[in-house]
Amino acid sequence: MKDLTSKKLMKMWCDFWTEKNHKQIKGASLIPQDHTVLFTTAGMQPLVPYLTGKPHPQGTKLFSIQPCLRTNDIEEVGDNRHHTFFFMLGNWSLGDYFKEDAIKWSWEFLTSEKWLNIPKEKLAVTVYEGGEGIPRDETSAKIWEECGLDKNKIFFFPKKDNWWEMGSGIGPCGPDTEIFYDTGKPSCSKNCNPSCDCGKWVEIWNNVFMEFNIETAGAPLTKLPKQNVDTGMGMERVVSVLNGYKSTYQNDCFEDAINQLEKLSGKKFDFENKDAKSFAVICDHIRASVFLLGDEKPTTPSNVGQGYILRRLIRRAVNSARNLGIDAKCLSNIAMCFINFYKEEFNNLWVKQNFIITELETEISKFDKAIEGGLKEFNRVIKTLKQGDIIDGRVAFRLFDTFGFPFELTEELAKEKGIIVDKLGFEEAFSEHQQKSRDNSGAMFRGGVAETQSDEDKIKVARLHSATHLLHAALRKVVGDYAEQRGSNITPERLRFDFACDHKLTPEELSKVQDFVNEAIKADVEITCEETDPQTAKNSGAIGIFDNKYGDKVTVYTMGNFSKEICGGPHAKRTGELGKFVIQKEESSSSGVRRIKATLE
Ligand code: ALA
Repeated sequence: MKDLTSKKLMKMWCDFWTEKNHKQIKGASLIPQDHTVLFTTAGMQPLVPYLTGKPHPQGTKLFSIQPCLRTNDIEEVGDNRHHTFFFMLGNWSLGDYFKEDAIKWSWEFLTSEKWLNIPKEKLAVTVYEGGEGIPRDETSAKIWEECGLDKNKIFFFPKKDNWWEMGSGIGPCGPDTEIFYDTGKPSCSKNCNPSCDCGKWVEIWNNVFMEFNIETAGAPLTKLPKQNVDTGMGMERVVSVLNGYKSTYQNDCFEDAINQLEKLSGKKFDFENKDAKSFAVICDHIRASVFLLGDEKPTTPSNVGQGYILRRLIRRAVNSARNLGIDAKCLSNIAMCFINFYKEEFNNLWVKQNFIITELETEISKFDKAIEGGLKEFNRVIKTLKQGDIIDGRVAFRLFDTFGFPFELTEELAKEKGIIVDKLGFEEAFSEHQQKSRDNSGAMFRGGVAETQSDEDKIKVARLHSATHLLHAALRKVVGDYAEQRGSNITPERLRFDFACDHKLTPEELSKVQDFVNEAIKADVEITCEETDPQTAKNSGAIGIFDNKYGDKVTVYTMGNFSKEICGGPHAKRTGELGKFVIQKEESSSSGVRRIKATLE
């Protein structure tokens, strides 16, 4: 279909599924509930509890337009089809319809004159050929034929092609049937089919028949209580192939951004030109950054977790702006293009535009400074090197650690001069540094609490430490799950706690937080401690940052139903010992991070 815009497609998606009695679910946060993954990577992710049996409040037939972020291909962004951020259009049956309706509706949406009106000759599908105790999916193949698809356009493939499960390998899963569009390119060989990546066939939609589950890593498949359908269609891809575009960046959502970039740089966006990569990186990364900053659980740039990815996205966009000869400060204009474009569908971006732009500008100017200092040092380093030489990993690490100069940039600039950077050496230096700072903070904590304090102070600190856990739990309850710990400092007199939050807490929020902690104290529950492995701790709902810093064993402190957190102690024996919890001050700590100071009376 020519002239299919992303806006039109989103609208058609909503109209079609509404006509089929489906209810729209709001796109979920990019930051998933489930802490095993950094980002929401598929429309089904927020639905996992419902696919595994919990009743959904909106019923058994649902659809959504889900913003997704996948970072595994971040380096590939810049060609004509890779994105980190994209929209997944999805529809679900939660134990309602199964293969027949799912396939017939997919066919109707794609081929009917009223909807996408794709000639059926342009389509092919793949189905599961069977294996591992699961039969060949003749049922789906037969339904496709009944729809009017030629038999020779139905391909059977093994698990590697026609089975879908989440990246973690855990959760609901099943065989799928994938729908491909013929771009019209000549066949690459006699055997050319949708599984080859010659570019003739492009996957546009996936229908997963989720009737199985994998409960823990490596566990055998079990049957889910119900047969579900989970589908996903890549919005950017569909718009591009149906219009016959050569790049997924030729899309109405990027139009304003590209126009601006063309004006600012005096260069033309042509996907076959060498500058195309910079255009695409800016478009993709700035759109992703806008959605991350404007999310209901906002991410702000930092050196860990999601914040690190955001920092990387912004910094890569800045590098691309430099490549186009544009002042990186102009990237906030590009961000505004997206905020404007999605004003109706994602009003949260519009409402939070000041926050988004301020955060973006702060990060850009921090990075600009780092580049300036780092560039001087980089040039000094390469002065004595010649083509084919290697930059020592430690030197690259010093550039990163002392000057904030990203490794990727060192690598990129070195490559321009034909110089190689020792990545392994860099990684070694990086992990040595991490180990050292862990050892230091461990020593500081032991020194501060166990050795140099009087017994009385030790008790005070332990109580404030327990109060800190209750405060952390209270904040996550009142502000939202994203209000995670960013820092903590305890003296015998007071606690100080930093946490992720995009706004100044209101008096109501503060009093709710204080009340929660005092209720937990009043309940006088026992504070128990248990040693376990990180996975079990995580499954039990304990909070804490799950990276490898915990090693094989972790200690989980539990305070009744109020708090469960990974921690090294020390703590009070019961919450009743803590006294009265009083918040003394709430203030900003750094961008996107708030600070609370509190005492026990
Ligand atoms: N969950 C399926 C996918 O992401 C639809 O492809």
